[in-house]
Order: sequence, then structure tokens, then C-alpha cells
Amino acid sequence: MNKKLLNALLGLWLASSATLSLNAQQLLDQESQNKIAKGYQVAPVPLNATGKDPNLLGYGSYLVNVVGECNGCHSGGPQSEYMPNGNPYLKQYPKVNPATYLGGGRDFGAFPDPAGPFPHIVSRNLTPDKTGLPMGGDTLQAFFNTIRTGMDMDKKHPTCQGKPDGKCLPAPFAGDLLQIMPWPAYQNMTDLDLTAIYTYLSAIPCIEDDPKATVKRCGAPGSTTPGPATTAVAGPKNSNVFARQIQLDGTQSISSDGKPLTFAWTIPSGSPAASIQNANTATPLVQLVSGRGIYSFLLTVTDSAGKTATDTATVNFLGN
Ligand code: HEC
Repeated sequence: MNKKLLNALLGLWLASSATLSLNAQQLLDQESQNKIAKGYQVAPVPLNATGKDPNLLGYGSYLVNVVGECNGCHSGGPQSEYMPNGNPYLKQYPKVNPATYLGGGRDFGAFPDPAGPFPHIVSRNLTPDKTGLPMGGDTLQAFFNTIRTGMDMDKKHPTCQGKPDGKCLPAPFAGDLLQIMPWPAYQNMTDLDLTAIYTYLSAIPCIEDDPKATVKRCGAPGSTTPGPATTAVAGPKNSNVFARQIQLDGTQSISSDGKPLTFAWTIPSGSPAASIQNANTATPLVQLVSGRGIYSFLLTVTDSAGKTATDTATVNFLGN
């Protein structure tokens, strides 16, 4: 953490222990306290505060929900931004729709000209993914970089090299920069402001980009906690069998990122000899060749990031 940020945090901490005697400094501190309290008051979704600085979290909510109004652009659009009975523009008491809150997907149309073969500029999903990091896994440093420079790290619309093809942005627009997004104003926010926004965006519930996608962005539905770790689940367990040929089952194993696992079955030392057919699949066949006894089979699964997990299947062979 840099020194400026530390000083600012210290300021917030001092504000929380302010006494009743009034001077200019303490009035300012009281103002910070008011913003933090307002931030908690207006947050439209439950917040996962675990491991987060409560002052930064409340102040971040104030900046996102009151000052920046990020959800006006980063929800699905005017139709779904508010609850059916909570649209302030219909003179109803405003109720933000949690199902679209900061989930992105608002289409600003073909840019720069609705009539041309230009890419649509679409707001992005700012909610954390199953890693718990906002914007689908961005670090604080990456977030600072994006807001301070406007650089589009996801490179959604490069500058056209030849004729516009509906995917590239024509000159003089710089395709490597975010369009419509008000980074030219936000870039002047202080380090503390941006850290507070990042803290708040880390605490809101995850929203799926596409509920039908097989690779899920969120851990469990609506959760902001990291998803399940890669886990091996080997079956059967302690099962009595009479046939010499049985099938093992690793299909209940879990991959932390939803991508396919690789499987490897081996026979641990001490277990009676057996032969394994297709030992690199989830459901190999084994021959129990050593007569009666308890056989063990060790399953090792490896996920796309190279993380491994193991579990053991056991069968008690009672046949002849
Ligand atoms: C006027 C509409 C508008 C507002 C207000 C707005 N954004 Fe954006 N934002 C966009 C659009 C549109 C994009 C995508 C731009 C593109 O594709 O060129 C975007 C992109 C982003 C990105 C880059 C995406 C990524 O994954 O890194 C971040 C971060 C972001 N916005 C954060 C915020 C935050 C935080 C706020 C509130 C403080 C906010 N935005 C307010 C329209 C807006």
C-alpha cells in the first residue's frame, strides 16, 4: 500500500474517533463519516464485507451508487434497471433491480454511427467472479490502470486497419480506449477513491454474463465467495462386489473453473494387484485379479491451472 493511501486511511480512522469539539479538520472528518453512512444506506444489494475495510466499503458504495451512478450504464438497460414497481421516472419510489445490478450488457448501439458497419459499444459486467475479484478477476492495479488511462484491457474493439467490418472502430477513434465510459472524468479520482470503489465492487454479488453458458462466472448462484476448489471424488467406496470386473467412477469430481479435468487412476502400494483399463478416463474398468480382499484405487484429477486433488475408491471383493 502506498504512503498517500495510508495517510488517507489514517484520516478516515481518525474521523471515526473524532471528539465533540469542532474545528475545520473535524468537520471534514464528520463529512467522510456522513458519506460512509450514506453509502451503507443506499447499497441496493447485500455486501460481502469479509476481509474488507468497512470505511472503504461504505465510501465505495457512496461513490458507485450516489456520485458515479455506475449502474445507470452498467445494468442491462432502462427496461430492467429498476424493479417493475420501483421506477423513479414513473414517480415510483426507486428500487434498483438486484438481478441486473452492475452486471453490464447495456447496448449503446453501433458506434460512432448507428447507420454504419460499426461495433456496438456494450457496458461490461463489473461484478466479481468466483475468484472474488471484481470485473471478472481484475486486480486493484489493473483497475487503476483502466480508469487512469482508459485502456481497454479486454480489447473488445481494435482500431480498423482496413475498411470497417462491424468489429473495429474507424479512425480517428482509438479502438484501444474505452468509449462512452466516463474515464476522462473518473481518472482524476484520488487513489483512495479508486481503492474504495474497487473494495465495494469486490463485495457485491456476482451476476452471470450468460445464464446458459456452461462455464459459470459465479461460484454458487448469486454468491461473491470463491467457488469450490478442485476436488477429486472417487467411487465406489467400501462397496462389496462379487464380479471380477467393476467400473470406477470419478465423474463427481469438481473443477474449480468449470473446465475439463484430466484423470489418472493408479493402484496404491499395499493394495492387491489389479489391472486398470483406460486409466486416464473418469470411468475406467478394472479387473480384480488377486482374489478376495480390499482393493484401493487412487484417483488424481488435474484442472486447467495444473492444480491436483486426490481421492481413493475402495471395493471389497467377495467373489471367486
Ligand atoms: C455513461 C455510461 C457509463 C457510466 C456512468 C459508467 N460506465 Fe463504465 N463503461 C461504460 C461502457 C459503455 C463501457 C465499455 C466501453 C467500451 O467497450 O468501449 C465501460 C467499461 C468499464 C470498465 C472496463 C471493463 C473492464 O472489465 O475492465 C470499467 C472497469 C468500468 N466501466 C467501470 C465503471 C465504474 C466503476 C463506474 C462508476 C464509477 C462506471 N464504469 C460508470 C459505460 C459507463
